[in-house]
Amino acid sequence: MLLLCLAVLCLGASSPCAAAPHQGSNNPTRNKLLLISFDGFRWDYDRDVETPNLDKMALDGVKAVYATPPFVTITSSSHFTMLTGRYVENHGVIHNIWFNTSTQQKKQYYEAQFVDCYWDNGSLPIWITAQRQGLKAGSLHFPGTAATYRGENVGVRQVESGFYDHSNETDWRLNIDKVIGEWFHQQDLDFVSLYFGEPDLVGHEFGPDSPERREMVKQVDRTVGYIRDKIREHGLTDQLNIIITADHGMTTILRDGQVNKIILSKIPGFSFKDIKFQLLDYGPLGMLLPKEGMLEKVYSALKGSHPHLHVYKKEEMPARMHYGNHPRLLPIILIADPGYVVNGFLPLHFIKGDHGFDNEAMEMKAFFRVVGPDFEKNRVVDPIELVDVYALMCHLLGINPEINDGHLDNTKHMLVNRNNTGGDNNNSEKNNQMDVLIGFSAVIGILVLVFIITLSCNMCKRNRG
Ligand SMILES: *[C@@H]1O[C@H](CO)[C@@H](O)[C@H](O)[C@H]1NC(C)=O
Ligand SMILES: *[C@@H]1O[C@H](CO)[C@@H](O)[C@H](O)[C@H]1NC(C)=O
Ligand SMILES: *[C@@H]1O[C@H](CO)[C@@H](O)[C@H](O)[C@H]1NC(C)=O
Ligand SMILES: *[C@@H]1O[C@H](CO)[C@@H](O)[C@H](O)[C@H]1NC(C)=O
Ligand SMILES: *[C@@H]1O[C@H](CO)[C@@H](O)[C@H](O)[C@H]1NC(C)=O
Ligand SMILES: [Zn+2]
Repeated sequence: MLLLCLAVLCLGASSPCAAAPHQGSNNPTRNKLLLISFDGFRWDYDRDVETPNLDKMALDGVKAVYATPPFVTITSSSHFTMLTGRYVENHGVIHNIWFNTSTQQKKQYYEAQFVDCYWDNGSLPIWITAQRQGLKAGSLHFPGTAATYRGENVGVRQVESGFYDHSNETDWRLNIDKVIGEWFHQQDLDFVSLYFGEPDLVGHEFGPDSPERREMVKQVDRTVGYIRDKIREHGLTDQLNIIITADHGMTTILRDGQVNKIILSKIPGFSFKDIKFQLLDYGPLGMLLPKEGMLEKVYSALKGSHPHLHVYKKEEMPARMHYGNHPRLLPIILIADPGYVVNGFLPLHFIKGDHGFDNEAMEMKAFFRVVGPDFEKNRVVDPIELVDVYALMCHLLGINPEINDGHLDNTKHMLVNRNNTGGDNNNSEKNNQMDVLIGFSAVIGILVLVFIITLSCNMCKRNRG
């Protein structure tokens, strides 16, 4: 019986899950991690395009129905939530645009990347945390890469030039060669974040339902195939986990004539004379700093002025949006419904698609797929939140996370469970195969026991007899 049980245990140990060559946190054989963001890749963009490489990846890994981005659903804010696990009101990168209300100065997306104090506002991105715990990190074009955090940069980085063409597939491949071939393979980095500026740009220019957007999704799909090929060529398939996601979705902006646009200058009782500083004409989110004593006047003029415009005092912002509690947020916050944008004087005509809307709107949901040695295979899971990705990444890298707003509990069902390999059989998420084996060995054990007892009883009887 002992022999039989031992045999069963050995069988258990050699099952593919139990024998996985990597263990839990703090193990030197931790796997590498590549975080990829395709800007503005809406959760359902693969539904009207042939995407053989994304389909293959879903078979080999885990696909979440979608990922809910944080509010505000714009590029810098959402990417910094991925990197820190904090809601926007907690990390402080509240807009793509940096501004100073006393000097009236504004810096657009690209320039704002270099304002260290804007990014370094109390939340450390995962690169810095990983480096402090002895890992090597890199970042290519990912928002937040250019900034310095508590005097420290991501160790290996590439920041794009101001006139960079974010759509060029040849360049994409050169960047991938660099990340996989040089950074992971030659330089042995543990974690890299990699950013692509599409399909956001085509979504803005042509709209999310355009043939141009569908063509770009094919380019993304080819790129995913290329990335996985490169990983295989460099022998990294079994040591590298990949997360592919996006910062937000995209929705069609309704045209003049179709709808009554939101134009603040045309709203009765509203005057720009009452405003000290304004952040308008940047899509569905607007913010106003009224002059001294003018808050109530501005607020009551705007509130209820347009059926698709939501007007909040900062402190009235719905708690679920986590966008009411940072000193950088201005006293009046304006949010347009999907399809509308907040204009100051003149409507912007050139934009067909936009984002920045309520993160509950389905059009704002982002794509989310993972594949690699630590992930389950061929599994579709319920929607997740981007704020939870940070805890997942820290777990995969075996590093202690900073204080954050996410939870590993919300994503750990995507993982191949590795807690049954050692002595700790306590975990509630037991591996099914292991359970079956344990059950199987128990049954065999009992049968053998019954057999032995029967045998010895018979022998007893015979001896007695
Ligand atoms: C805005 O500019 C003023 C005047 O130069 C300066 O005192 C203040 O610190 C600046 N605020 C921010 C947030 O940069
Ligand atoms: C974050 O920024 C705000 C306003 O710009 C500033 O008052 C605050 O001190 C900063 N906090 C940290 C920790 O840098
Ligand atoms: C794309 O990038 C490659 C490599 O940088 C360059 O040679 C090529 O001219 C670019 N193509 C376009 C259309 O800009
Ligand atoms: C495995 O166990 C460790 C320690 O008990 C825990 O921190 C970790 O989250 C567990 N991993 C999974 C995938 O449940
Ligand atoms: C095992 O589970 C028990 C009860 O759920 C718990 O008290 C104990 O701390 C766990 N042990 C380990 C090693 O996780
Ligand atoms: Zn974006």
